[in-house]
Amino acid sequence: MKLFVTGGAGYIGSAFVEEALNAGHEVTVFDNLSEGHRAAVDPRARFVEGCLSQRPAVDAALRAAGAEAVVHFAARALVGESMTDPGKYFGNNVANGLNLLEATTTAGIRKFVFSSTCATFGIPEVMPMTEDLPQRPVNPYGESKLMFETMLRWFREIHGLEFVVFRYFNAAGATKRFGEAHRIETHLIPNVLKVALGQAESCKIFGTDYPTPDGTCVRDYIHVSDLAQAHLLALAPGKAGFYNLGNGDGYSVREVIDTCRAVSGREIKALEEPRRPGDPPRLIADATKAVNELGWQPKFPKLEDIVCSAWEWHVGHPKGYGG
Ligand code: UFG
Repeated sequence: MKLFVTGGAGYIGSAFVEEALNAGHEVTVFDNLSEGHRAAVDPRARFVEGCLSQRPAVDAALRAAGAEAVVHFAARALVGESMTDPGKYFGNNVANGLNLLEATTTAGIRKFVFSSTCATFGIPEVMPMTEDLPQRPVNPYGESKLMFETMLRWFREIHGLEFVVFRYFNAAGATKRFGEAHRIETHLIPNVLKVALGQAESCKIFGTDYPTPDGTCVRDYIHVSDLAQAHLLALAPGKAGFYNLGNGDGYSVREVIDTCRAVSGREIKALEEPRRPGDPPRLIADATKAVNELGWQPKFPKLEDIVCSAWEWHVGHPKGYGG
């Protein structure tokens, strides 16, 4: 298929593009490189540097790509930042996203795959989390993604757009070629591995008084290649709907740090800090629906394997995409 991939220079997008090309798809990446990296775009893909805020540029790029499906990764995606700069989230994720949606339907493209998040659920009362739980986001990031989900529902109803929405839990790990390299890193695993690499003195544990077994937050870490595989399955004819993507296992911040110690064989100093605003205590997916309806089978469900792949990538790319 001819795919138009927004955010294909970003962390999850770059892993998807690699897998999509391996699977025989033709890929155009559209990315403004605000967070992504040119070097993270698989050289087999066509690359268009552009911003979703510029509707004519989006129209032209979609036309040139001859796109049959749009896979939309591009977004601002930091919970903490959204709590201080909500406008950035509604602007990028909602307003610019709407440009893409309109351009997609105007171009007559019927298939859309969207990267949503478990942050649309807020603080869930039921664990593990199925797709039908109430969505009550507790930060502008989750709200912006939910607003896009809502727009998709209406575009389906009115324009017949067929879509798959994936609500990711905590993306982690790397392929052999593409890994996690944010300009300002806030995520747990890369920050912990920086200490193992000798690039930081210590890592931080945000909150030790949560109602969890060891007092630190519990998350469901999912390998970026497994996320990519789910997107490929979503492109099959007739696939549509909302799917949670996680492994169904929760690991605490302390368990993640211990796993990083074991995998790297290095000492990792961890400092206990106050809670970070906006962090729910536990987020664990029930991905049964994706397994049953899409035939999704995660290949790397073990945290150790996920961390191992991240460690190998960071050792091979100590400066991320900068070196
Ligand atoms: N944490 C630390 N120290 C750090 C970084 C994080 O203790 O240096 C903690 C956080 O407080 C949190 C957990 O580790 O409890 C995971 O934090 P991340 O920043 O790695 O990931 P988040 O769970 O905050 O967010 C990620 C994505 C979001 C997505 C969310 C869904 O960034 O886009 O997962 O859970 F919405």
